[in-house]
Amino acid sequence: MYRSIKAASASAKPQAAVLLLPAGTKAADVAHCPDAPALEELLKQPDCELSPEWTRTLYHSDAPAKRTIVVGLGETGKIDATTLRLAAAKALRELDAGKLTSASVHAVGLPESLDGPTIGRAIADGMSLANFTFDAYHGKTKRPDKSKREKPRDLAVGLDSAHRTGFKQGLKVSEGVTTARTLACTPPNVANPKYIANYCKNLAKKSKLKCTVIDARRAKELHMGGLLAVGAGGSTPPCMVILEHAPSGKTKDKPLLLVGKGVTFDTGGYSLKADGGKGMKYDKCGAMNVIGAMQAISNLKVKRRVVGIIGLAENMIDTDAYRVDDIITFCNGVTCEITNTDAEGRLVLADCLAYGTKTYKPAAVLDFATLTGGVVVALGKKIAGVWSTDDALLNKLKTAGQTVGEPIWQLPLDDDYRKMMQAKHADLHNSAPVREAHGTQGAAFLSYFVGTDAPKQIPTTPWVHVDIAGTANTEDCTLMEKGPTGFGVRLATELAATL
Ligand code: BES
Ligand code: MN
Ligand code: ZN
Repeated sequence: MYRSIKAASASAKPQAAVLLLPAGTKAADVAHCPDAPALEELLKQPDCELSPEWTRTLYHSDAPAKRTIVVGLGETGKIDATTLRLAAAKALRELDAGKLTSASVHAVGLPESLDGPTIGRAIADGMSLANFTFDAYHGKTKRPDKSKREKPRDLAVGLDSAHRTGFKQGLKVSEGVTTARTLACTPPNVANPKYIANYCKNLAKKSKLKCTVIDARRAKELHMGGLLAVGAGGSTPPCMVILEHAPSGKTKDKPLLLVGKGVTFDTGGYSLKADGGKGMKYDKCGAMNVIGAMQAISNLKVKRRVVGIIGLAENMIDTDAYRVDDIITFCNGVTCEITNTDAEGRLVLADCLAYGTKTYKPAAVLDFATLTGGVVVALGKKIAGVWSTDDALLNKLKTAGQTVGEPIWQLPLDDDYRKMMQAKHADLHNSAPVREAHGTQGAAFLSYFVGTDAPKQIPTTPWVHVDIAGTANTEDCTLMEKGPTGFGVRLATELAATL
């Protein structure tokens, strides 16, 4: 994998040319091939399908580029940004396998619906998403001796001028995606609430964000009973981190508020998970994706004010851990009887949402959480479930999702579902006695914490809850390797830039 990907200067002579070609491309359509006769020969061959599954590498020594990597895109009418991202990902893997450090990428004959910036952006996304691996903890058996280790390589990518700006923008966003994925991979015995809060402080210095940490002591003063209950059994105390992006002149604007669930490990607590919680280090992905989005938003110098709030806690078993039957009080005064200590994410988010909406009076709120197994059953691993109080905001988010390839699907939220979350001995319980509509139960619970009118009615603050339990990590290895996806970083960044 490359240490970094950069846009090359226009004059540089690359080691490889990457050609992204629709089915039926003729040699005459391709102006950039360093070895025109070889390409003509290839394109004439009957098995040259140029389908999205098809790719070939031509090797030539005397041409300016040493090789040409041809990646098929399929029928022109069916090509979209998703096609381009996948093709760029394949090209990146081929360049990496060849240990090349420079390439030019040309996409030819694309449908008119794809403009230059979109094409550049998709190429950057595909290459950078494929260029991720997490080997920080490879030890003696996987890592060669120091003397035999290869020097880290950087990749310089030359592009047609129409695609260059979008490409550079994409690379800026990708830094945030990589941060989110790296943190998500970092194991729970390292990435505890304290580690992540420290990471945020350092990132803020680097990225010109403002960082405030509400530690457990301050959280007690602020009556954040949800955050404190979930984190009570943890190896380090829970905390809340606030990252602020305030472009000059916009410091008083109503911000976009991003909220993330950061459960650094979810054992289920006393309602213990039967499988031991394998993979539950990813239960912090909502928060990690908010961190990544804030980095990307700052990188892009987005013109609007954005505040990111993450709740960090470890859901463990301990003498101090919270119990089923406990009744807790959140910072907005709402009380909750604990019916299941494994429905912990909503308790952490409740304090984040209540505190965030009261303190920052946001124009819009977006929260990301690996909240329920129910959303995975309903929608699978490619589409995130969303619940919303505002159609205009939701439509903008849907468009953003289509643009960046992070699709969302709306599920219902109404008073009947909110009633399901009301308890006898407290305002709410965190899990209803019935098993139905788990994803919606989560959303209905959260709806009591968005804005000051929230406990009494469905919030008037424009809000979308995004349940990423299915999309936060992947097994399918096409665009990205197995592991965390950063799903939400590009979505939130795109929304912030277009809202
Ligand atoms: N972190 C889990 C949700 C989850 C499940 C994420 C699978 C990723 C994959 C969450 O805290 C949880 O345990 N939810 C319970 C809620 C239930 C107890 C009301 C669930 O979905 O089963
Ligand atoms: Mn849980
Ligand atoms: Zn959880």
